[in-house]
Amino acid sequence: MRLARIAGTGHYLPENVVTNKDLEKVMDTSDEWIQERTGIIERRFVEPGTGSTDLGFEAAKVALDEAGWGPEDLDFIIFATLSPDMYFPGNGCFLQNLLGVGDIGALDVRNQCTGFVYSLSIADAYIRMGLYDRILIVGSEVHSTAMSLTTEGRDTAVLFGDGAGAACIEVTDGSENSQLLWHCLHSDGAHAEDLCMPAPTPKRKPWISKEMIDEGLFFPQMNGREVFRNAVTKFPAVIKEVLESRNFTIDDLKLVIPHQANERITEGVRKRVGGPPERVFSNIAKYGNTTAASIPIALSEVVKSGMIERGDLICTVAFGSGFTWGANLFYY
Ligand code: ACO
Repeated sequence: MRLARIAGTGHYLPENVVTNKDLEKVMDTSDEWIQERTGIIERRFVEPGTGSTDLGFEAAKVALDEAGWGPEDLDFIIFATLSPDMYFPGNGCFLQNLLGVGDIGALDVRNQCTGFVYSLSIADAYIRMGLYDRILIVGSEVHSTAMSLTTEGRDTAVLFGDGAGAACIEVTDGSENSQLLWHCLHSDGAHAEDLCMPAPTPKRKPWISKEMIDEGLFFPQMNGREVFRNAVTKFPAVIKEVLESRNFTIDDLKLVIPHQANERITEGVRKRVGGPPERVFSNIAKYGNTTAASIPIALSEVVKSGMIERGDLICTVAFGSGFTWGANLFYY
């Protein structure tokens, strides 16, 4: 039987560490406010000239190395990002060229915070149906250059950081008790404008204008309370759904790796999920919210630190812009 499993993981963070104290210098905020509301202590920002493909390339090299794959082994690329280098073409094509892997297919996934969760489900389906044997997934973001680092933009600017994570997914017969098991995916477009970047938009003519810039429509717009209210219910609900779909309970799980949205959201998930707090992983204090990159970064970190071993039951779960939310269940 054709199944899929995670063969290798990797992550890459830019070297430039930006602390809450650094943000205090450019906007009216405080380390205390940021830590209390979000759990974030510092995040990484790229140097000008570095894009999300560049970060993804670095993370991909680590994942390919861990999987023991050369460029010739790769069948397909999936790239999840909300901060692509260009409006088009997608980052997958830029990465294909950087990796020098020949003319394999490259798909861009635009599901924001749930980009990695959706991508893993696509890779699993492609492998199970026999279309490909080895797929590279990258989640990568450069937020720092596209946020308003001012008092006006402080509600979102303190949340986000830059970074990339990657995972190599390969065909298996499941005999090593290492396999992707199931995925649950959801969306609710009624909340699309609660977390979005409205411009540029081909719905308006011209699609870029001085008025849009003056209105700040090029920066993320967030209804923080609505995001929070939905996130703390959708995260636990979809964890339960994916577990029940394969007749597991929460106590069967070694680790829940949630999208690192905000420590207060993660705390809310912990309370509702129950069990020991360390069952729900968090690294947001170090990196902030890296959107599509946060789960693959966390996954790579827990693999490298030895926190999870082959055969452990893991749930990766995300909620974000769209609104979209979803979960994957797998034996690592
Ligand atoms: N520093 C200091 N003060 C700030 C900041 C800041 N960075 N940002 C906002 N404030 C101020 C506000 O202006 C407001 O001031 P006022 O009372 O004078 O009007 C005050 O702090 C309180 O603002 P609220 O919006 O009421 O603060 P709240 O307690 O709701 O917390 C927060 C805001 C942290 C954004 C909260 O709504 C939240 O956690 N929402 C979840 C959003 C989130 O985490 N998104 C992550 C990205 S989406 C994703 O990944 C799923």
